[in-house]
Amino acid sequence: MGGATLQYVQVKTFYIETFGCQMNAHDSEKVIGTLLDQGYRQVPTPDEAELVFYNTCSIRDKAEQKVFHRLDKFKRDGKGKTFAVLGCVAQQEGEKIFEKAPHVSMVCGSASYNQLPQMLVQLEAGNRRVTGLSLDTDETFETPMTRRDNPHRAYITIIEGCDKKCAYCVVPFTRGPERSRTSASVIREARQLSAMGYSEIQLLGQNVNSYQDPSPAGWDFAKLLDEVGRVEGIRRVRFTTSHPRDFVKPIIDAIDANPFLCNHVHLPVQSGSTRMLEAMQRLYTREEYLQRIAWIKAARRSIAITTDIIVGFPGETETDLAATLDLLSDVEYDSVFSFKYSRRPNTSALALEDHIPEEEKIRRLALVQEHQRQIQIRRNAAYVGAVEECLVEGLNKATGQWIGRTSQYKTLNFLYPGAEESLIGQYVDVRVTRAGANSLVGEYVS
Ligand code: 5AD
Ligand code: SF4
Repeated sequence: MGGATLQYVQVKTFYIETFGCQMNAHDSEKVIGTLLDQGYRQVPTPDEAELVFYNTCSIRDKAEQKVFHRLDKFKRDGKGKTFAVLGCVAQQEGEKIFEKAPHVSMVCGSASYNQLPQMLVQLEAGNRRVTGLSLDTDETFETPMTRRDNPHRAYITIIEGCDKKCAYCVVPFTRGPERSRTSASVIREARQLSAMGYSEIQLLGQNVNSYQDPSPAGWDFAKLLDEVGRVEGIRRVRFTTSHPRDFVKPIIDAIDANPFLCNHVHLPVQSGSTRMLEAMQRLYTREEYLQRIAWIKAARRSIAITTDIIVGFPGETETDLAATLDLLSDVEYDSVFSFKYSRRPNTSALALEDHIPEEEKIRRLALVQEHQRQIQIRRNAAYVGAVEECLVEGLNKATGQWIGRTSQYKTLNFLYPGAEESLIGQYVDVRVTRAGANSLVGEYVS
């Protein structure tokens, strides 16, 4: 009947653009897999597409505005196209999006992606107000078909959502409560990925280390990490993002003992001031955080440490800022992502006055970034002369340099005269000859 004919009328085309974090990037891979599975065809530009999807981020106001800029462009000349807003802005704004951008026909948050096939049927049937906004799920989004972007590194989501309540953060509202996958399903997926030729796996979760196996096996994160690193054919395992409160020493012991686990930990601190950490409801003090850093530094392997910083949170004084700069010096991070505080809907910090002017936030951000730049120049210089194993990720045709990634997640651009394109995806040894603030330069060693 009608349903069967609908499916075969024509192949519909879709375009998808993704904003935000790796969780979103991986969600898009799964959404693409679902769409392909439903018979849709992906095209590279929105102009060519009948269905246009935006998978959105709302972590900061600037990120949120991006999707509305995109949609604005199609306000007049989007006729004949169907627009869908997915991800965090969809969850946060819900049906208000239909008012802001009346040419949008579907709004769907990440906890409802399991319902995408049914929602697509509704769209095809001409429904112009299709929504998937429930957060009331204990399911995780797993698809039989995931179209992965990177041919060597594959993401596996092991835990979705967040049960913490950091005062500035919208994520618990956009991604819902924590749900872990069973360890057996994670290991099965890792084995499949290895059989497909992937050699690097990145375990994903908003609080990846809060993972708790819901099956009777009952593995914790350290056990899961170690077991993924034992899957045959997997040479590198990464994980992000870790929450300091749940960061226990067995994670470091696992990295120390298993060379297939990459020596890199991303441990967002947000501020170096205990007073600020308390205001942010981060659930740890500066001292407790530094205890985790001490474990990482005491490992036999040299583990790179990276972090996230927020400047200009309500109540932040010069003294608090100085404590953050001082923490950067103490830890000597390999890299830092720093942000100006941005007020987000639903968060508890909304009750606090956002009293620090924008120019002052800009000044504090610049201070943090310049301080960290000097640290990175110093740290990276120490690698000159060292030989590092790199996964070759590409070739920069302009410079003739191969783009390599070390276990510590540093970019190492190197020369390898005579090498062919098939080098991409291989692991090679490279001697570091020069170092900058953000990358290393080297040459292949045979
Ligand atoms: N304002 C600024 N930065 C934020 N982050 C999260 N929420 C906000 C906000 N409201 C930053 C944190 C987090 C990273 C992913 O984004 O540093 O670790
Ligand atoms: Fe946001 Fe805090 Fe949860 Fe991270 S731990 S996602 S910063 S609420």
